[in-house]
Amino acid sequence: MSTYTHDEYLKLVKEINNHNYLYHVLDQPVISDAEFDRLLKVLRKIESNHPEWITPESPSQRVGAAPVSKFEKVNHPEPILSLANAFDEQDLIAWRERISRLDARVASTSYVIEPKIDGLTVVLHYHNGDFFLGATRGNGEIGEDISSNIRTIKSIPMHIPVNQHHRLVPANFVVRGEVYIRLSDFDELNKKMLASEEKEYLNPRNTAAGSLRQLDPRITAERPLRILAYAIVESSGEDFHSQWETLNFLREIGFPVAKEIVFCKDFNSVLSQVKLWEEIRDHLDYEIDGVVIKIDNLDLANDLGVSGKDPRGAIALKFPAREEITKLNDIGINVGRTGVLTPYAILEPVEIGGVIVKQATLHNFDYIREKDIRIGDRVLIKRAGDVIPYVIGPILQTRDGSEKVFETPEKCPVCGQPTEKIPGEVAVYCVNAACPAQLVRIVEYFVSRSAMDIVGMGIKIVEQLVADELVKDVADLYSLRLEDLLKLDGFAQKKAENLISAIENSKNQPLSRLITALGIRGVGEVMAVELAKNYTDLDQLSRATQASLMQIEGVGPNIARQIVDWFARPSNQEILKKLKSFSVWPVTKKTRERNEPLALSGKTFVVTGTLANFSRTEIKEFIEENGGKVTGSVSKSTNYVLAGENPGSKLDKARELGIEIIDESQLMKLISLV
Ligand code: IVH
Repeated sequence: MSTYTHDEYLKLVKEINNHNYLYHVLDQPVISDAEFDRLLKVLRKIESNHPEWITPESPSQRVGAAPVSKFEKVNHPEPILSLANAFDEQDLIAWRERISRLDARVASTSYVIEPKIDGLTVVLHYHNGDFFLGATRGNGEIGEDISSNIRTIKSIPMHIPVNQHHRLVPANFVVRGEVYIRLSDFDELNKKMLASEEKEYLNPRNTAAGSLRQLDPRITAERPLRILAYAIVESSGEDFHSQWETLNFLREIGFPVAKEIVFCKDFNSVLSQVKLWEEIRDHLDYEIDGVVIKIDNLDLANDLGVSGKDPRGAIALKFPAREEITKLNDIGINVGRTGVLTPYAILEPVEIGGVIVKQATLHNFDYIREKDIRIGDRVLIKRAGDVIPYVIGPILQTRDGSEKVFETPEKCPVCGQPTEKIPGEVAVYCVNAACPAQLVRIVEYFVSRSAMDIVGMGIKIVEQLVADELVKDVADLYSLRLEDLLKLDGFAQKKAENLISAIENSKNQPLSRLITALGIRGVGEVMAVELAKNYTDLDQLSRATQASLMQIEGVGPNIARQIVDWFARPSNQEILKKLKSFSVWPVTKKTRERNEPLALSGKTFVVTGTLANFSRTEIKEFIEENGGKVTGSVSKSTNYVLAGENPGSKLDKARELGIEIIDESQLMKLISLV
């Protein structure tokens, strides 16, 4: 038997409701989830012994009552109005001029700017402070009774204090707000759906709409719905004269109100404030489709009246849409430098936020399968901020059976060679290094600044060389002749000569750069430097085993395997042979046993002035290849300052601290090269 009294039960109800408020409305819980669950458990226990004590206010009633067969109709106490739209500043100015002509008070009125929450209007009725009815907007005159669903939304107060504030909450009190889902909650929800192999939801708004119109409130209870309140529809006995005060009052009596609301003392301030909102939009945890500008003086707003269904005293400034629905005409595949096959959507062109979108990313093949995206589907496309447009998912209701399931390609669409999928990775690869689609990307990477740094070899030239079959692999770059280049678009003698000499010069690049340039998956610049420290040339590296590679810092089993695989491929062996025959074969200056310290190990260098034989990048690479470190400023821990022509203040600093100053030839001596 329960040992709790009725009073204790009511106290517990109050306590839990307060925690609900702190958590769901203020976002400031004061107890842990576990403690909260414990309180709820006690409550349930008491209620199972005393079912007669349960009131609609009990927190236990907010998990969803029994399903209904249909929603009853509800007459709204006042028309639930809509808003006229403005799309730019001009429209706002025109609105203000229109209403100025109707009422002289407009000239000196202030305004409130509110986010236009992309959710669904709900109308909440309270009697003597108790929630008793929640309705959808419907046609603005008549909505539907969704009270059981509303009760499951924890941020909606089930009780509002009467008489406790400087203002009285009237006996009949009707509030309007927007039900929505936070972006973070939405992501969380979709993660759960994915984990349980259920279909993911398309967007927060549709999900919120579907959840509110659920006949089974227990399902609604599982969705992370929230509310933001923004208007009082009816308040018997008490009038509200300012929108700003209304919002603050709503907040005081327990309704969540958007934090981002702004008070503007005049219209100029409105115009400057709205400019900030495109930026604010990107940082909100909920979607907005614009801002609402409302005249603060509610008496004036009321007197301005209504035009159709739109109150004249407020206007919505709509932002460009970010989502649009269009047809997925086909799925194309891009082949990247590393051979990754990336699918993309070929769309029926559609305008999103002022830009015509014809293509959108589909991320990867798993994504297509998980979202069940089929060719011919109508798909929802999102284009927001700096993000590349992407396909959110198919609109299932519009399928007519003609849509085709897309199969992950087993062959590279360009070279026809079999594709590979590495366990644990989502990407599908074409592993044929001679694949023409990859070739342009591979050559582009080979000649790039961080690799062989062939100055003047841009993407346009690379494309031509590959298209004219002058370059069939990266080694072919070194067989190019002046007359080959002169045949290309835009090449005169001088330019061709410069490029030939840039190609020639690249033969002097250190081993680390050549390793980078090969474009082995997982081997970037840093890793290449590590490899070059451990192997004297590409022959040695090509003989390395997976186990020995894994001894090197930063090399895990995956990368080690990638390296071994790269060198094992006959086409790559061929490339190496050609590079060697063209003398593109850097050798690390000093051969040494692994783990034997290098000549400059543990030594820190600072370089100042112009060196005769090295550029700044080259000397850094050179010192690092020999085990040393190069830093930017002289300190006590500097071992040597390497000084060239016209040294700077670093030299003085070195003298001051008594640090050894050396020149290039002394450096060579340190490494025993001379
Ligand atoms: S005020 C007379 N304020 O936008 C009051 N509406 O396009 C008229 N909405 O149906 C509405 N956020 O569902 C208002 N801060 C906000 C709003 C807002 C979203 C929605 C609301 C309305 C629609 C009009």
